[in-house]
Amino acid sequence: MEKLKCLLFCAVVSLCSCDAYKILAVFPVPSPSHGILGDNMIKHLLNAGHEVTYITPYASRQKSNPKLHIVDVTDHHSFFNPDILDLTEILEGTVNFKDHNFVFSMMMHIAAMTLEHKNVQKLMRDPQQKFDVIIGEYMFTDLYSTFPAVFQCPYIWFSTVEPHWMVMNLVHSPMNPAYNGDYMYANIPPFNFMQRVQELWLQLTGLYHHNNDYYQREEAVYLKHVVPILKEQGKPVPDYNVLKYNASLLLGNSQVAIGNAVPMPPSYKHIGGYHIDDEVKPLPEDLKKILDNAKNGVIYFSMGSNLKSKDLPDDLKKGLLEVFGGLKQTVLWKFEENLPNQPKNVHIVQWAPQQSLLAHPNLKLFVTHGGLLSLTEAVHFGVPVIAIPVFADQFLNANQIQHKRIGEKVDLSHNLPKDLKVALDKVLADLPRYTAKVKEMSVAYHDSPMKPKEALNFWVEHVVRTRGAPHLRSVALQVPLYQQAYLDLLAVLLAAAVGILLVVRKILCFFKPQKNIKEKKN
Ligand SMILES: *[C@@H]1O[C@H](CO)[C@@H](O)[C@H](O)[C@H]1NC(C)=O
Repeated sequence: MEKLKCLLFCAVVSLCSCDAYKILAVFPVPSPSHGILGDNMIKHLLNAGHEVTYITPYASRQKSNPKLHIVDVTDHHSFFNPDILDLTEILEGTVNFKDHNFVFSMMMHIAAMTLEHKNVQKLMRDPQQKFDVIIGEYMFTDLYSTFPAVFQCPYIWFSTVEPHWMVMNLVHSPMNPAYNGDYMYANIPPFNFMQRVQELWLQLTGLYHHNNDYYQREEAVYLKHVVPILKEQGKPVPDYNVLKYNASLLLGNSQVAIGNAVPMPPSYKHIGGYHIDDEVKPLPEDLKKILDNAKNGVIYFSMGSNLKSKDLPDDLKKGLLEVFGGLKQTVLWKFEENLPNQPKNVHIVQWAPQQSLLAHPNLKLFVTHGGLLSLTEAVHFGVPVIAIPVFADQFLNANQIQHKRIGEKVDLSHNLPKDLKVALDKVLADLPRYTAKVKEMSVAYHDSPMKPKEALNFWVEHVVRTRGAPHLRSVALQVPLYQQAYLDLLAVLLAAAVGILLVVRKILCFFKPQKNIKEKKN
């Protein structure tokens, strides 16, 4: 018996150790939700027995683990912090997040800062460092695809939002703009004529920039900060244009049940929801009491870290309190400051365990900025939402929420209290219908052969086991866009038509010799 136990134990140990890989995770974007996605990804990889080297601007909050090696890029916070979101400008409607060039330049700058960072340079120059696979976050820059040139191993993109043409272009081809919108316009298919034209134009101009000015700027960063290392180490120096399109896989923080059912290449894998804990952590006593005792249910209002109380005008705060005070439900508001004249049914908390709240049966409605993490959690736990989008893909998610009838959308403006009241009345009057809809979505989301975190581990390991998963590589990458759009055929047909016209003209001329001679004399 003892022998058998020992044998089993040895077998298990050897199984685990042969499947343990060395992974480099590149998550340098200094923004809270990106930190959550990075931290949870490495958590699952570590739990699966892998050894992870993690490039992160959130170094201080990482728990020490012998299998985790931190490459600290905390300095990134000094360049970029979410406070650049000026709420007053958003309220006035004067801010322009829809400026692609602004977003790209900022993200390219963060990528350049990462590649030239002393800790990252040290990592790249260390001949002892070897990895089985690299996972890099796609955040509007292709530059992290240059890491595999240094470590000569397969590369996996991770995309934090719904699949979009820019990231799909790296592993397949851009998406058909007739039914795949850019997050910027937040259009939900089916599009009308003008929307289709708009989406096509945006993709065409976007692709032009990606292949020209952005490409050159990124290539310059590669040449400056990576190529010298390759030369020093005597490694081949691939073209940036090759590295960009050489990823083995694209992991997406998405789920078909939540987004749109659009055709995806085999190298795209949905892992949305992996950041949600398997076990719901118990609520702190005070919150538990509030939720347990709320006879009319609880509305949870949290704008995440986007809407800072210090930026919110007093009349807005007062207006919101009045609206909440007029409800029969209990309102839990996550906010940094306590407000005067708080109605009895309103509780302001500085911090709240969002997932545990959403899991509580008395939680009836979630008022959120509509970020994808919050939306996924709402669907996971089956709670209807009112979205007040502030920036980035939140507008798209908010439109999706409305389109799928799992909630409503409210614009962030000086009229917020009034508009929110309208939305609250609408949803609360029809709560069972909204709840049924989101529960339906929740069932579709959960009914899957693998949990998101299992899919994450499986596909990362699959890439290592199959040496870069060349069998998943989309054939579309070998077919230039003009061929995919049959522009070459169009050119042939046009040329043929012109040729035929010329021939016909020649023949006609032949039968009118007199006129022909006259013309020649002239
Ligand atoms: C492209 O990726 C594959 C699979 O990881 C790898 O074998 C190959 O060396 C890479 N090509 C270049 C030019 O880096």
